[in-house]
Amino acid sequence: MSLHDRWVQERKHEHYYKMAKKLNYRSRASFKLVQINEKFGIFREGDSVVDLGASPGGWLQVAKECVGENGKVVGVDLRYIRPMDGVTTIIGDITEDSTMRKLLETVGGKVDVVLSDMAPNIGGHYSTDHARSVDLCMYAVAVCDRTLKKGGKMVVKVFMGDMMDSLVKELESRFVSVKTHSPAASRDTSSEMYIISKGFLASRNVKLKEIAEEREKPEFVPKGGNI
Ligand SMILES: C[S@@+](CC[C@H](N)C(=O)[O-])C[C@H]1O[C@@H](n2cnc3c(N)ncnc32)[C@H](O)[C@@H]1O
Repeated sequence: MSLHDRWVQERKHEHYYKMAKKLNYRSRASFKLVQINEKFGIFREGDSVVDLGASPGGWLQVAKECVGENGKVVGVDLRYIRPMDGVTTIIGDITEDSTMRKLLETVGGKVDVVLSDMAPNIGGHYSTDHARSVDLCMYAVAVCDRTLKKGGKMVVKVFMGDMMDSLVKELESRFVSVKTHSPAASRDTSSEMYIISKGFLASRNVKLKEIAEEREKPEFVPKGGNI
C-alpha cells in the first residue's frame, strides 16, 4: 500500500472512531450496520434480533435503536458484553452445543433478523483465516435454521476467499435474495465482506450434518448440528 493510501485509510479509521465516541457507540463497527441498514432495510420496529459476535456491543446498540421499545435483541459473544438496557446477552461460544441451546431457550421462538459480525482470531495465514470465518458463518446459518422466521433476514460477515461461492450457494438455498456488500465504514484494505440475505424460506428442516455429508466440501460441518 502506498503512503498516501495508508494516510487515507488512517483518516477514515480515525473519522469513524471519533464519530463512534461522539455518538456514544461502543465500536466503529456500528457504522457498518447503520450503512447496511440504510442500503438494505434490515430492521423494522418491533423486530426480534439475534446478534452473534456482539461484543463490545456496537451492533447491539444500532439494532436496539432500530427495533425500539417493543423489539427484542439478544447478543452472544465469547467475550463479556457490558449490560445494555433492553438487550439480553449470553456469554458463550456459539460453536458449543450448550451456547446454541441457551440461545434458543433465551429467544424462546422465532426471530426476524439474525446478525453475525463474528470474526476468528486472525492468525495471519490468509486461507486458514478465511476457512475459520466461513465456519463461523455456517454456525450463523445453523442459528437461522433453528430460529429465523419464514421471510426473515440475515447479515453475516465473512473474510473473502475461495470458499465464498460455496457459502453464497449455501445461503441461496435458504433465502430468496442474497447479496454481498462492503460498507463504506469497512477498512479499504480489509478482506471482510458482508452477505445480506432476505426472504428466509424456512421450508427445510435442515440438519447441517446431513447437508455436509452430501457436500463435496465437508469442512462446513458445525458441531451442534443436531440441536
Ligand atoms: C468484530 S467483533 C464484533 C463487533 C461487534 N459487532 C460490535 O459492533 O461491537 C467480533 C466478535 O466475534 C466474537 N466471536 C468470535 N468467535 C465467536 C464464537 N465462536 N462465538 C461467539 N462469539 C464469537 C469475538 O469474541 C468478537 O468479539
